[in-house]
Amino acid sequence: MVLRKQKPPRDPPIFSAAAFRVISILLLSSSSVEGIIGISWGRQTTHRLIPSMVVDLLLQNGIRHVKLFSPSDNVLRAFAGGEIAVTMTLPNEGLYNIGYPDLAAYWLQTRIRAYQDLNVNIKYLYVGSEPFSTYYRKKMYINANEALRSIQDAIEANGYKDLVATTPHFTDMLAPDIRKPSEADFHPDWKSKMVEFVGLLNRTNAPFVMDMFPMYSVSQMGWDTEFAFVDNKSNFTIVDDNGLVYTNVFEFFYDSFLTAIAKAGAPHLKLIVGQVGWPTDGYPEATTANAERFFRGTPLRPGISIDVFIYSLADENLNKLTLGGFQRHWGVYRSDGDPKYKIDFTGKGRDIFPTTAKGVVMMPKRWCVFNGDKRNLTKVKKEVEDACMMGDCTPSWPGGSCDNLDFDTNVSYAFNRYFQAMAQSIDDKSITCDFKGLGKVVVKDPSVGSCRFPMEILSAEMADSNGLTNGEDGERRRGFFGLFLLIIFVLELNWGHGFVL
Ligand SMILES: *[C@@H]1O[C@H](CO)[C@@H](O)[C@H](O)[C@H]1NC(C)=O
Ligand SMILES: *[C@@H]1O[C@H](CO)[C@@H](O)[C@H](O)[C@H]1NC(C)=O
Ligand SMILES: *[C@@H]1O[C@H](CO)[C@@H](O)[C@H](O)[C@H]1NC(C)=O
Ligand SMILES: *[C@@H]1O[C@H](CO)[C@@H](O)[C@H](O)[C@H]1NC(C)=O
Ligand SMILES: *[C@@H]1O[C@H](CO)[C@@H](O)[C@H](O)[C@H]1NC(C)=O
Repeated sequence: MVLRKQKPPRDPPIFSAAAFRVISILLLSSSSVEGIIGISWGRQTTHRLIPSMVVDLLLQNGIRHVKLFSPSDNVLRAFAGGEIAVTMTLPNEGLYNIGYPDLAAYWLQTRIRAYQDLNVNIKYLYVGSEPFSTYYRKKMYINANEALRSIQDAIEANGYKDLVATTPHFTDMLAPDIRKPSEADFHPDWKSKMVEFVGLLNRTNAPFVMDMFPMYSVSQMGWDTEFAFVDNKSNFTIVDDNGLVYTNVFEFFYDSFLTAIAKAGAPHLKLIVGQVGWPTDGYPEATTANAERFFRGTPLRPGISIDVFIYSLADENLNKLTLGGFQRHWGVYRSDGDPKYKIDFTGKGRDIFPTTAKGVVMMPKRWCVFNGDKRNLTKVKKEVEDACMMGDCTPSWPGGSCDNLDFDTNVSYAFNRYFQAMAQSIDDKSITCDFKGLGKVVVKDPSVGSCRFPMEILSAEMADSNGLTNGEDGERRRGFFGLFLLIIFVLELNWGHGFVL
């Protein structure tokens, strides 16, 4: 992908998203510059699709750009051949140590060059993920800029010609009281860090990457829910001083970032959307119908020349739940590779379902349900609680697709999620449908109405050892290098990711 230079947005920004909208309507037929559409693929799941299967799925749907959250060897190898451009992430937990030039060089060598040599097309490196944000976690990674600088220097010193490093930031890096995009600026608490960050991007002409979450933003700002959608049905609009009318939060934040970046002194930087999505369960507005509607709007509309990465490919039943149950339901696909709603990844606006993952083998049709013994309700509730520690019960939370089950079915739901997460194990050593005598295995699908009792895929992929390759094992290293490897190990753990979110 060639970095497309935007004209400097002055005050008012002349190349805002709202302006693009107008331009694209006027010039639809002759629009030559189209943004790319990519997707994030995370693997915080109990059962994982095989990487080659996912690569196949992406290609079938015409998706040519993928973002990964950690450098797992088997995943990266699946992208050999270079048909899909890969954006890789250096997890936040590695930011501190990557400030050492030797470690930065070593990490690039083992995590980037080794795969580029296998013809994996790694275009972007995200150094951390929303490092300064606190909307879903307390910890901040305040040395992210130093890490980015270190990586930039190592890229330069070691001749990685086509690799571009940047860091994605969430909308909470903008001042909280923005009412008009043309008045936007970075958050006062983070202003000096963000100005420094923009200066770093300016060094290498790297793009600014913004992550956003429309459903969350409208509720935070106290705006009409319709303002989260991009199909111009909101009665609530924002009229800027420059005459632009904002009918949705996507364009509002896009243009706000353009203004803030321009104020930080680098108006020519490209702005891409590194993460945007709409979850489908675990919250009242989180439905497949709303997700489908959302994606019919701007980000995937023909003629729009903004690069957008959809969050995310498939549901992840081990994602953290700091913001709510919906965090496990971001996928366009269910975790088994079955699409939930219509979306045209090629941006042509066709009314189509994406293709289903090929070659998936499901677990046998067996479910675990409650046997109805309510003599000791304390015990029943305790077993449900335990089941939900490992099983994903978020659909049975308020607003979820299973929030209106009767007591017995609700207990069954929890038991079944655990049973499936434990791969339906019923051998002597691990009977996972026991629940102190309260569970029983059935062969009839207990799903009721819109509440599915999901099964898992037959776990075809054993998780690799947290993204470590075996390559290092055979080599004997001592002293400083042992410590060095320990640090590298920390850098390579398969941590959670943004929105995680
Ligand atoms: C961006 O880089 C240009 C030249 O490369 C320089 O003139 C300008 O001051 C830089 N801006 C910032 C904000 O660093
Ligand atoms: C949005 O809808 C309003 C009223 O329905 C209309 O006047 C306006 O032109 C529409 N804007 C766009 C960008 O389609
Ligand atoms: C917007 O306004 C129109 C006309 O005033 C009304 O019919 C419609 O229900 C309103 N839509 C929403 C989402 O409030
Ligand atoms: C009910 O179950 C709880 C938790 O398993 C247990 O501590 C308690 O003794 C049980 N009560 C009776 C009456 O069996
Ligand atoms: C159903 O079970 C979930 C846990 O799986 C619990 O959070 C919820 O409160 C239960 N709902 C009812 C109606 O018992």
